Amino acid sequence: MKKEREQWGSRWGFILAAMGSAVGLGNIWRFSYAMGAGGGSTFLIIYLLSVLIIGFPVMLIEFAIGRRAQTDAIDAFKKLAPKSFWVVAGGMGVLAAFVILSFYGVIGGWSFKYIFSYLTGGVAGDTGGYFEAFVGSPIEPIGWQFLFMGVTVAIVMLGVQKGIETSSKWMMPILSILLILLAGYSLTLGGASEALTFMFHPDWSAFGDPSVYFAAVGQAFFTLSLGMGIMLTYGSYLSPKEKLTSSAAYIIVLDTLFAIIAGLVVFPALFAFDLDPTQGAGLVFVVLPTIFQNISGIGAIIGVAFFVLLALAALSSAISLLEVVVAYLIRRLGVSRKIATLGIGFVIFLVGVPSSLSQGAVSIEVFGDSFLDFMDKFSGNLLLPLGGLIIALYGTWSWKSDELLEQTDLKGTAIAPAILFFAKYVAPIAILVILVFGMLNW
Ligand code: TRP
Repeated sequence: MKKEREQWGSRWGFILAAMGSAVGLGNIWRFSYAMGAGGGSTFLIIYLLSVLIIGFPVMLIEFAIGRRAQTDAIDAFKKLAPKSFWVVAGGMGVLAAFVILSFYGVIGGWSFKYIFSYLTGGVAGDTGGYFEAFVGSPIEPIGWQFLFMGVTVAIVMLGVQKGIETSSKWMMPILSILLILLAGYSLTLGGASEALTFMFHPDWSAFGDPSVYFAAVGQAFFTLSLGMGIMLTYGSYLSPKEKLTSSAAYIIVLDTLFAIIAGLVVFPALFAFDLDPTQGAGLVFVVLPTIFQNISGIGAIIGVAFFVLLALAALSSAISLLEVVVAYLIRRLGVSRKIATLGIGFVIFLVGVPSSLSQGAVSIEVFGDSFLDFMDKFSGNLLLPLGGLIIALYGTWSWKSDELLEQTDLKGTAIAPAILFFAKYVAPIAILVILVFGMLNW
């Protein structure tokens, strides 16, 4: 007899789990450094448009495919479209999860290290120098990366998804409150007007630069966990009765708010202390400690709290990434969950080692980017949008317009015509054009 598939306990269980996957290092670490490098407001505007015009329809289609197929990403395409080209989307998803987690573990490890630093005396003095000394040493960051991956593996191995669901319930509200308080504080530091101009005052001349589009669309996919079947899988645990449209809207609004508020923490402080917005992957690890240092008395406590929450947000996303690869291996190779998780967790850790080393210990560059930045761009800006393109095309070609509206619960809503138009024409063409130009301008 076939084992009954698991389902979410409630609609909110599903929304929270999807939010847990979406809100992560992408909102704080990746968003601020991508926005810093992408020139601020120009990046932000294109990113917000991408979330609305590309992210929202792609998320709905992923949920709908999953809910309909009631199985994982690779199997879903096999089931709904046997022996067809669409199956590559599932395979690419597994590859993307693998690549993303390899460097995600490195940054997750950094957040572990900073918790430890704040517990044992803080990041004293020159925060930039402190960060560089840390990532420049070959062994220490790899140790923290190992620890982060170890915790991720342990959670996925035990399959304590319940624990994750419950912890998300607590963690998200606390993280948002802390972020809002920090943003309020950061805005008083003297860099507010410069930061607000940088973030919200459009610089029209910068819209001609294709690399900003490439980065902003990639960020939209990365931060919403789209384009590789994770949302598809989450949708597959939904009963057909649940409505998708409002769930997707909640997830998207919350995820976007997290990113913007994180920007309001990072950029005012950055301008107040004259730090460089384009410094790349280390940005939040330098700017935030500078803020905490300024808060006399309780700065170290806030430092601990912040990095604990960042680490938890990172873990709930890392788990969703590892689960995709593990679920595939269990079904494909027939190995036990324990062996699959331990084995692939260790391999992903090893693949992440060059990313860690590339931050200062050893010079490892690919196409002019450090290995970490390359893996990040390759997966986020290339694999995910490509996966999203295939998913959007699948949803809009294999389903007639009416069926698509029905599957995504859009039928009869006021936004139906707009979303249908985005899904069928705007999103696929935009992704394609941006990918081509992005590749040419790598
Ligand atoms: N969205 C997460 C973040 O912003 C990262 C993440 C988790 C992810 N699962 C994913 C990205 C699946 C792409 C695909 O940190």
